[in-house]
Amino acid sequence: MALRKLVAGNWKMHGLSSDLDQVRAIAAESRDYPNVDVALCVPAILIERAARTVPGFAIGGQDVHHSGKGAHTGCISALMLLDAGASLTIVGHSERRDAQRESNEEVKAKAETALSVGLDVILCLGESLEVRESGGAVDTVAAQLDGSLPDSLGGEAGLAIAYEPIWAIGTGTIPTVAEIGEMHAAIRRKLVERYGEDGATVRILYGGSVKASNAGEIFAITDVDGALVGGASLKAADFIPIVAAAAAAVEG
Ligand code: PGA
Repeated sequence: MALRKLVAGNWKMHGLSSDLDQVRAIAAESRDYPNVDVALCVPAILIERAARTVPGFAIGGQDVHHSGKGAHTGCISALMLLDAGASLTIVGHSERRDAQRESNEEVKAKAETALSVGLDVILCLGESLEVRESGGAVDTVAAQLDGSLPDSLGGEAGLAIAYEPIWAIGTGTIPTVAEIGEMHAAIRRKLVERYGEDGATVRILYGGSVKASNAGEIFAITDVDGALVGGASLKAADFIPIVAAAAAAVEG
């Protein structure tokens, strides 16, 4: 079953007021591709302004706390994201799993908390270069799924998975088409095993050095239902051609 593609930008720690022009341009130009869902996950402090700038366009966070509220200095809750105008959030990005030592268990709790307030979730997974080279990539990602998938899916299409091999993030190197295909098929099997038929409706995004020049071949792979894009999502001129490639893949 071909799912509607989602192309989400992850601005990471980039984005000031002056970049709202790019949010505006991306939202406006995305309208030319109504068969693709487009979202931008911006720094938390920019969410409210971005959401006000482009009403109706999906603005998301990049992380959320696993608790609903409480004494967690400096943290941001799911309701706060929603209140600021976000409709989705990333959880479990490898940069946070690494730098903030986030465990699968914590990522799972974050996903469940976000889904429970009605945010859509992009849950990230992916193996290191060492694991890829040792032949353990599929098993490692399967273990991450076992540990971090929420117990139940939030509403229809509330959850998306982003397969992001760590060695492909920001490096310009991407896995082969066969490697992406093998991994996405393995993720799909796991999702169906876990959620039954509903597992077939969870979008599986690829992330890691996606750009206009490789997006077409990535989107043509079975079970690639979109992309999570870092560096190439900061400027409309780089990002919109990726959205266009997703639209072209849908049209076949
Ligand atoms: P990149 O980042 O597109 O810059 O490789 C992707 C990501 O980390 O989500």
